[in-house]
Amino acid sequence: MGFPKGFLWGGATAANQCEGAYNLDGRGLANVDVMPHGPERWPVGTGVRPMLDFEEGYYYPAQSGIDFYHRYREDIALFAEMGFKVFRMSIAWSRIFPKGDEQEPNEAGLAFYEDVFRECQKYGIEPLVTITHFDCPIHLITQYGGWRNCKLIDFYKKLARTLFTRYRGLVRYWLTFNEINMILHAPFMGAGLVFEEGENKQQVKYTAAHHELVASAWATKIAHEIDPDIQVGCMLAAGSYYPYSPRPEDVRAAQLSNQENYFFIDVQSRGSYPAYALRMLEREGIELDISDEDRRILADHTVDFISFSYYSSRCAAGEGSDADQVKGNAFAGVKNPYLSESQWGWAIDPLGLRITMNELYDRYQKPLFVVENGLGAIDRVAEDGSIDDEYRIEYLRQHIQAMRDAITEDGVELLGYTTWGPIDLVSAGTGEMSKRYGFIYVDRDDAGEGSLERSRKKSFYWYQRVIETNGEDLG
Ligand code: BG6
Repeated sequence: MGFPKGFLWGGATAANQCEGAYNLDGRGLANVDVMPHGPERWPVGTGVRPMLDFEEGYYYPAQSGIDFYHRYREDIALFAEMGFKVFRMSIAWSRIFPKGDEQEPNEAGLAFYEDVFRECQKYGIEPLVTITHFDCPIHLITQYGGWRNCKLIDFYKKLARTLFTRYRGLVRYWLTFNEINMILHAPFMGAGLVFEEGENKQQVKYTAAHHELVASAWATKIAHEIDPDIQVGCMLAAGSYYPYSPRPEDVRAAQLSNQENYFFIDVQSRGSYPAYALRMLEREGIELDISDEDRRILADHTVDFISFSYYSSRCAAGEGSDADQVKGNAFAGVKNPYLSESQWGWAIDPLGLRITMNELYDRYQKPLFVVENGLGAIDRVAEDGSIDDEYRIEYLRQHIQAMRDAITEDGVELLGYTTWGPIDLVSAGTGEMSKRYGFIYVDRDDAGEGSLERSRKKSFYWYQRVIETNGEDLG
């Protein structure tokens, strides 16, 4: 017994990290475009350093990405060669509605994605499409304040309706917001939030989160009305928090950190604000304007499946602990002394994937989808052009094994697995190209130099075999 028949193997990308062509065919400017490479990227991403347009002296990697916009045929052919059953990608909102609040969509943007989906269809690859992967048109930020403004719900509904209608029959799997909980950690990147001096940031973030949650439920409703076969998923930046020790303060700290993340999925999957969140908001003096209609929409239109990214588990310590802080996917935490780390300091914990899957499945009892997982690492190109990325194979092998255990031993229902960045692309966190995740190498460096040529790494052939044997042969 192993992976179920029809298991969806593939890879995942995001528009702003691969498309480039930021100003072509009517596309408008977005928050993700103006996040520079270098030390200011994170202050901009967190909304602490306002940057709402390109500024002199910075390099903006999203402007050109890996030029997927012009090379998608070649890239999808390579995915097909690996045997992909599914390709996760996202829509750049500002290609469809350049400013975000127009009456009519931009036909060139719609046509681009239609071509991409048709290309996938040619190879029998199922698209899994994220409506927004961190992007928000700049105009919606400068004019309305981003997701803090409830008007964005209507703009997003319009976007969703346009997409579901146009791509009816071409796309069956949709995700509403990438890593919806990222709003708490990188609010400019996650929700187009820029803060005023002295503003209550928690109030703004949870207000914006409420708007996204309501928008997500509306999108689910609209999708099912347009085509009952559409499956809509939520998307969590997952990775369970472990207590640093059995000290009750540490266990409690882990519980609170987990709740901070589950909050989003509790609303999207169970349909209402959980009691612990209502109390937390009250304690922090955060007031949300939740209308009866919001409550109804949230309750009646929950998601069909739970998707999530998993790079590592996390670890939390309560007051009085001497644990060290550690880096990782924008989530603060303490160092787990039992785990090794990637070159970027992210903990490596394959068993944690099985643990996380069990926790999510126990909690929601809905099918899961692992839509991101992978190792960001430096690759070396040998003189003959080959790339031996055994370390990446090892990472993925162990994580696939953990998923298999969760399915076969624990009975978790899993729809599919898309590794992050099957082709090297721009890092969301750092803006680097040198933090590579791909099976396919892209000749491009951190300063934007390189031919953009694609080549197959050792892991390309390995993943091809994994898919061919439906996860039986992990090498
Ligand atoms: C997830 C995001 O947080 O992690 C992706 O959904 C991102 O957009 C991925 O690229 C890996 O993070 P990074 O910072 O290594 O690119």
